[in-house]
Amino acid sequence: MTLLEPNVAADAPQPALGQDVLADPAAFKRAMRHLAGAVSVITTGRGEQRTGFTATSVSSFSMDPPAMIVCLNRSSSSWPAVQELQGFCINVLAHDQLHVADRFTGKGGVKGVARYEGAAWQELVTGALGLSDALTVIDCELDEAIERHSHAILIGRVRAIRTRETAEPLLYWHGAYRHISNLDRVLTSA
Ligand SMILES: Cc1cc2nc3c(=O)[nH]c(=O)nc-3n(C[C@H](O)[C@H](O)[C@H](O)COP(=O)(O)O)c2cc1C
Repeated sequence: MTLLEPNVAADAPQPALGQDVLADPAAFKRAMRHLAGAVSVITTGRGEQRTGFTATSVSSFSMDPPAMIVCLNRSSSSWPAVQELQGFCINVLAHDQLHVADRFTGKGGVKGVARYEGAAWQELVTGALGLSDALTVIDCELDEAIERHSHAILIGRVRAIRTRETAEPLLYWHGAYRHISNLDRVLTSA
C-alpha cells in the first residue's frame, strides 16, 4: 500500500500549471486532498436540539483575545443549532476516536443527538458538550458568523479549555483517516 492509497490513481489526469480552476472544478478538489489536517468534532445545540459535525476546517485565529475559526456548510443541521446556542465546542480527536468522527459525519444516517451515543461527554460553559479524552476541548462563544458562499465562517471566543497530553492526533489526508506515527496505514476511507 502506498501513502496515497486509497483514492489516487497513478494515471489520474493532472491539470497544467496555472490552469483556470473555473474551467476544471475537479482540479480544486484534487488540490485540497493534499491539505493534511487534524480531525475535530464540533458539538453544538442544547437538549434534544443537540447535533454537530466532523470538521477539518478548524484553525486558531487570535491570541488576544483567544479565538478560533471553523467553517460550516450552511446546509448542515449544525448551522441553525449554532445560531440558536450562540456557541460551539471544538473537540480535537485523538487517534483512538475514529468512531466519533464517523458518527458526526452522519455516516449511516445518524442524526442529531444520536451522534453523541457511544462516547462520554460533559456539559461546558456555553452549554455545548465536550468529549471525554479528546486531545483538546475548546469551548467557544459565537463571536461572529460570516456568511459567504455555501458556508459560514464561525469566529469563536474561547471560554474554556481541557487537554489530554498523552495521545496522538487523528489525521485526515488524501481521503482517509490516518495515524501520525504511520501515515502509510489507512485507518478507513471517508
Ligand atoms: C474529514 C471530513 C471533514 C469535514 N469537514 C467539514 C468542515 O470543515 N465543515 C463542514 O461544514 N463540514 C465538514 N464535513 C462534513 C460534516 O462532517 C457532515 O457530514 C455534515 O455537516 C453533516 O450534515 P448534517 O448534520 O446536515 O447531516 C467534513 C466531513 C469529513 C468526512
